[in-house]
Amino acid sequence: MELNVLILPGDGIGTEVTREAVRVLTHVAGKFKHTLHIREALLGGVAIHKTGSPFPAETEQMATSADATLMGAVGLPEFDKAPPDKRPERGLLGIRKTLGVYANLRPVRAYKALMDSSPLKNHLVNGTDMIIVRELTGGIYYGTPRGISGSGAEERGVNTMSYTRAEIERVTRMAFELARQRRKKVTSVDKSNVLETSQLWRKVVTEVGPAYPDVELEHLLVDNCAMQLILNPKRFDVVVMENMFGDILSDEGAVLAGSIGMLPSASIGDQKPSGVWVGLYEPVHGSAPDIAGENKANPLGAIGSVAAMFEYSFKLKEEAAAVNRAVEEVLNSGRVTADLRPKGTPATTEQVGQAVCEAIAS
Ligand code: IPM
Ligand code: MN
Repeated sequence: MELNVLILPGDGIGTEVTREAVRVLTHVAGKFKHTLHIREALLGGVAIHKTGSPFPAETEQMATSADATLMGAVGLPEFDKAPPDKRPERGLLGIRKTLGVYANLRPVRAYKALMDSSPLKNHLVNGTDMIIVRELTGGIYYGTPRGISGSGAEERGVNTMSYTRAEIERVTRMAFELARQRRKKVTSVDKSNVLETSQLWRKVVTEVGPAYPDVELEHLLVDNCAMQLILNPKRFDVVVMENMFGDILSDEGAVLAGSIGMLPSASIGDQKPSGVWVGLYEPVHGSAPDIAGENKANPLGAIGSVAAMFEYSFKLKEEAAAVNRAVEEVLNSGRVTADLRPKGTPATTEQVGQAVCEAIAS
């Protein structure tokens, strides 16, 4: 198969973890005899530095023509005080919107080898295996009106949360389809006791449900869900929610996995005429400028995102499984970065990438 992949290393540790993810991508493509075409482009702070824009037109064009995009992370402290449209994060929101990747899949698994890395008790975490499906191209992240106006005591910030039926329906269907291939349970998360957007959300999800009679549907309020994630994570299979709730709850989910460096993500849109599904793949973690350049960031979230790319964009299940198995093997071997609190000397970012390739063998 021809694999046209765009690489956007981005900022901070993004470049380091992406290098290892590309190492694994190249290795697996070679092993399974795929032809890999890699191009690289600018996104985020590095793009602002070089072009003045966090999402340059050239990157936009290259992303649109690629089959799939692999991203590191964006964000640099020097832009902390910049207005939202001059920040690296705006580049990420831009590419998500341009690609139309409306469903962000964030799997959360508790690996046996990492049980002690989680601050939670083993018996609570053990057996956790869920996918958070976060709506990614709508809601308060994109709603208008937005902005800051006025002055003095009347200076006011405004954001707008809005959802259409169509936006809710398509991400809900994605959640049900995923659940069908898993433990057949969908939990929909909202704040329908307060918000109109959530009332519509719950209504639409409830209406989609009967099309999937084999899948159980439950509704949970977002505050309660935040608590249940810690009290009883095993009850969750596929958990679907709007954009900002998903942003917040997926970081909480990271605690179950032992380290946020472990979490991959896949953002999926529609199927292209070629049969490939549009996808943007990125680890859930940020650019971690405090440890950038030190070769100690955990690349497994980025590497897991390569597995997700094989699975969701190219439908290459065997290749995806090979990467996931290798990640598990490396975890068991203890050749892991400092965030996972290994016994003895931690491995470097690069060593972990190499170890994953070795575990896949040739
Ligand atoms: C994430 C990040 C982004 C988000 C930021 C960097 C814009 O936190 O992917 O979870 O809020 O979506
Ligand atoms: Mn986030």
